[in-house]
Amino acid sequence: MPKEIILVTGSSGLIGNELVPALIKKYGQENVIASDLNEPTNYSCKSVAIDITRPEVISKTVGDYHITTVYHLAGLLSAGSEENPDLGWRINFGGLKNILDVAKENKLKVFWPSSIAAFGPTTPQKNTPQHTILEPTTIYGIAKVSGELMCQYYFNKYGVDVRSLRYPGIIGWRGKAGAGTTEYSIHMLNAALSSGKYDCFLKKDTLLPMMYIDDTIRGTIELMEAPADKIKVRTAYNFSAISFTPEQLTKEIQKHLEISVKYEPDFRQKIADTWPESIDDSAARADWHWQPTYDLEKLVEIMLKQLGTIAKQEVRAQ
Ligand SMILES: NC(=O)c1ccc[n+]([C@@H]2O[C@H](COP(=O)([O-])OP(=O)(O)OC[C@H]3O[C@@H](n4cnc5c(N)ncnc54)[C@H](O)[C@@H]3O)[C@@H](O)[C@H]2O)c1
Repeated sequence: MPKEIILVTGSSGLIGNELVPALIKKYGQENVIASDLNEPTNYSCKSVAIDITRPEVISKTVGDYHITTVYHLAGLLSAGSEENPDLGWRINFGGLKNILDVAKENKLKVFWPSSIAAFGPTTPQKNTPQHTILEPTTIYGIAKVSGELMCQYYFNKYGVDVRSLRYPGIIGWRGKAGAGTTEYSIHMLNAALSSGKYDCFLKKDTLLPMMYIDDTIRGTIELMEAPADKIKVRTAYNFSAISFTPEQLTKEIQKHLEISVKYEPDFRQKIADTWPESIDDSAARADWHWQPTYDLEKLVEIMLKQLGTIAKQEVRAQ
């Protein structure tokens, strides 16, 4: 089998911080190249700076390192894109288009995450089907739907082996949580370990699909390793684990630690209101045997343990 050499874009983000070590473990540090806008400094593999809006830089890196596979994570999340729609479109759609063009020229295999943001207010919100109405109202969601269609187009027209998942809200602890709509969950867990108080920017009964990062990373690599003839969906697979509300998360945290939560919804409530409550991922389960392993109880237990260890290390380092 020809050697696989993997480029990861957006490596310094929440997901990259977990995916890069997992890829290094599986494929060896000599076969993984981490990249971000600024060169990442925290990985044992080779790292480079790539601005995803600059196709010539992507092309040169792919040539220089004989890249065969790209995990394209560089992006601007929902809240950031809503604050700067032009930049959101350029990074999220333009960046993907640049990757697909380089993939076409160099016969690369590509992973790119879509999102539950591809759905919209007219989508059935409960157990959202694989094939359904996609009319998002956020610029982030519009870029995700357009990106999904572009992936399918490049597969059909040029044979690019591009695979995608509609990620739910991802909960991880290695990378820093940002201002994303579902990231209230990570901030609440951190608050439980520090002040014991949290002002939540979503209403307490906002039910959203979520997933613990270990499930996400395993599912992503399993999708990429599945035989090409098993991949029946070339837009993006529905990909699901659990759904919970801020109030349900608070109650689960309170089994371990004290926390009081005030609810002060901001503009992200409107974004969350357009997303599904739960997802039907039976196509992923049938085609390449997707199976999540973390429920809310296990997720809270492991997140508090891992975030607690990081907090202690930070105190020791001061
Ligand atoms: N985190 C989630 O819950 C979630 C949910 C659904 C989909 N996704 C998708 O997963 C991917 C990664 O998300 P994440 O949570 O790691 O995001 P993140 O914001 O933590 O990381 C994104 C990374 O992209 C980099 N980046 C931004 N602009 C860039 C540019 N022009 N060139 C190169 N790099 C650039 C940033 O520096 C950052 O390190 C994105 O496509 C996102 O839409 C994430």
